[in-house]
Amino acid sequence: MLLQSKDVLGLQYMPSEEISYIIESAATMKELLMQSAKKMPHLQGKSIVSLFYENSTRTRMSFELAGKYLGATVSNLGVSTSSVQKGETLLDTGKTLEAMGTDIVIIRHPLAGAPKFLGDNFSGSVLNAGDGMHEHPTQGLLDMFTMKEKFGELKGLNVTIIGDIMHSRVARSNIWGLTKLGANVTICGMDTMMPCAIERTGVTVSNNLIESVKDADVVMALRIQKERQKGGLLPSNREYHTFFGINDDVIDKCKKGVMIMHPGPVNRGVELSSAVMDADFSVIDTQVTNGVAVRMALLYILTRSKNNEA
Ligand code: CP
Repeated sequence: MLLQSKDVLGLQYMPSEEISYIIESAATMKELLMQSAKKMPHLQGKSIVSLFYENSTRTRMSFELAGKYLGATVSNLGVSTSSVQKGETLLDTGKTLEAMGTDIVIIRHPLAGAPKFLGDNFSGSVLNAGDGMHEHPTQGLLDMFTMKEKFGELKGLNVTIIGDIMHSRVARSNIWGLTKLGANVTICGMDTMMPCAIERTGVTVSNNLIESVKDADVVMALRIQKERQKGGLLPSNREYHTFFGINDDVIDKCKKGVMIMHPGPVNRGVELSSAVMDADFSVIDTQVTNGVAVRMALLYILTRSKNNEA
C-alpha cells in the first residue's frame, strides 16, 4: 500500500486503512529489529535529515537508529548551532536540505503547522516528530502498535488518557488514531488542562481518576508539560499526584491485567509513582522499542511510495 500523502503530518486526516497498514508493517520491522545483526538494505542510498527545534531523546534517537538500521545515510542538523541562529528561515533551511539531495526530513517544532509548511515547500517527504500542541503522529502509532501487540485488537479496547490533555500532542494523535480504529477513549485530568469541546472528537471526558480507570484496559499517563504552561494551571506536583497520579492505590482499583503506558520522559513520582513505573504491567520500555519499529516501517513505506511515484 502507498500512503495518500508524501508527508506524515498527523493522524487526524490519515485514513484508518493507512494507520492499520503502518501498525502491521511495524510488527514486521520489529522482527528485523530483534535480530542480532541490525543492518538491512531497505533504505540504501536514501538520505534522511532530522531537524529538531525542541529537545528530544526518544523520538530523535529512534528515528536516527531506524534509518541507520535500514541502511540510510542519517544526519542531524543541530538547530542550536546551525544558521537558524543567524536568522535563516524554515523555508530556506528546507531549500538548503533539498539542494543537498535529502529524501526525508524529520522535524520537531514548537509551532503547530511548521511540518506542513515545510512539506508544502519540500519535494521529499516530511515526517512530523511533534509540532506545538498539535500532533505527534509517530508516538500515536507506536502507542497503538503497543496496545495491539498485547490485546490483539484495538476495536472495543477501553483506553484512558490522564493528565495535561490541553498541551499534549501525544493525546491528540492517540485520540484521532484510537477513535478511528474503534477504541473507546476516556480522557481525565484537571479542568484547567482540558481543551474546549474535546468531547466532539468522540471521547468521554472525566475529572474523576478512579471512575475513569476502573474499566480501562489501558491507562496512559501524560507528562506534565511545565515548559508549555503559562503558569497557574497546576497547584503543585504533590497535589497533582494526589488527584491524578497513578500509584499502587490506583492500580488496586483497575482491572486485572491493566496496561500502564507513558510516552516519556516521566516525571517520576508525579504522573506515575516509581513503583508503578518500574512494575511489569508498565510498558514504557516496550513503547520505546516499538518506536524504533514504527519509525523503520514509516521510513520504508515513504521511500517506497516515492520510488513508485518516479
Ligand atoms: N515521547 C517523546 O516524544 O519523547 P522525546 O521528547 O524524548 O522525543
